Amino acid sequence: MRTQVAIIGSGPAGLLLGQLLHGAGIDAVILERQSRDYVLSRIRAGVLEDGTVRLLDAVGAGARLHAEGLPHDGFELLFGGRRHRIDLQRLTGRRVTIYGQTEMTRDLMDLRASEGAATVFEAKDVALHDFDGSKPSVTFTKDGVAQRLDCEFIAGCDGYHGISRASVPGSAMQIFERGYPFGWLGILADVPPVSHELIYAGEERGFALCSMRSQSRSRYYVQCAADEDIANWPDERFWDELRLRLDPATAEALVTGPSIEKSIAPLRSFVAEPMRFGRLFLAGDAAHIVPPTGAKGLNLAASDVHYLSQALIDYFGERSSAGIDAYSAKALARVWKAERFSWWLTSLMHHFPQDSAFGRRIQRAELDYLAGSDHAMAALAENYVGLPY
Ligand code: FAD
Ligand code: DHB
Repeated sequence: MRTQVAIIGSGPAGLLLGQLLHGAGIDAVILERQSRDYVLSRIRAGVLEDGTVRLLDAVGAGARLHAEGLPHDGFELLFGGRRHRIDLQRLTGRRVTIYGQTEMTRDLMDLRASEGAATVFEAKDVALHDFDGSKPSVTFTKDGVAQRLDCEFIAGCDGYHGISRASVPGSAMQIFERGYPFGWLGILADVPPVSHELIYAGEERGFALCSMRSQSRSRYYVQCAADEDIANWPDERFWDELRLRLDPATAEALVTGPSIEKSIAPLRSFVAEPMRFGRLFLAGDAAHIVPPTGAKGLNLAASDVHYLSQALIDYFGERSSAGIDAYSAKALARVWKAERFSWWLTSLMHHFPQDSAFGRRIQRAELDYLAGSDHAMAALAENYVGLPY
């Protein structure tokens, strides 16, 4: 097989890149290790920045998002027993949209299939070759048969555990990372959301988040120990703990029901630099991870592939390598700002086991400052709706 761009991974980064290139007449093949159903069964992010929505519109994948997605003009911070609204619309003139990553992935996959663009699901043993020269290729096994894909560029969109970053010699890359001593226990349930806007709660018992996927499907999270065993969390325990982390009125209004998904996500900040190695580019979680608190992971994958698609369009259109030479620096400038924001909001809202009483008071003072200062709220809001690109 031959293509212009071999895309590894059929998550948001790979699928969106595929459509952006397709729209510009650039041929790409996506190689995905898992089945389509498996990819669509993973419950992940839920908040889309308006830049991400614009990109989905630009590739023609925005129709269902606009029909079923929930535009949110604000969210609430809960601390000290009170909820404080962050009015995104007033502070920034912009909003975010609640639309599950699963739905966005499904829309992009359907669009790709309808256009006849090639995706190989269940591509096993993917291996990257010669990306430091002029003729890279990717080998893989499909249904037991060894295959080879020749290409001009490889886009590593295969997430944190993918093969792309792992194919780069360690000496060519610098890693920056921070772990957090807790995780998020998440539950999905077909019950109406407790509030029409998201609530980020930072009370004494630890962080909790009330989110949603639709008017009838809720997504809730509670901070838990990093090594927590999910078997210790039957639904009743989850709901009881969530109630204890909310203000009395919200706890009272909470509608509970059986979970349809329950999982624990570790929290981590991670950046690999640079994001280009010869003819290999990294994008999305393959290059960086943020803790989920600011809802930035999926949105960063979108901004990365925006920059990458522009660079590749310039290359194939004008045979100019200026764009691909600038890709890594351009993407990393935005990535680091989202890393900072996600680290800051995580530090502000979570209970750190080793925290002193002093540390708790500092968190509280910062929250008080936020709730009372339009300038502080505007900085939060500007980052939450997404920095421009
Ligand atoms: P991914 O979505 O990880 O896609 C990578 C794809 O590559 C996958 O389909 C994978 O199967 C495939 N792949 C991997 N290895 C190979 C290989 N060797 N060969 C071929 N294909 C391969 N973000 C938020 O903003 N809010 C959240 O609540 C949130 N929750 C999350 C929960 C979990 C458990 C995880 C893991 C992430 C969560 N994120 C969240 C982050 C967000 O989902 C990611 O930032 C986003 O999925 C990144 O998209 P991506 O396309 O870069 O990577
Ligand atoms: C969701 C996840 C987040 O990390 C966040 O900040 C907001 C919402 C969610 O899964 O709905």
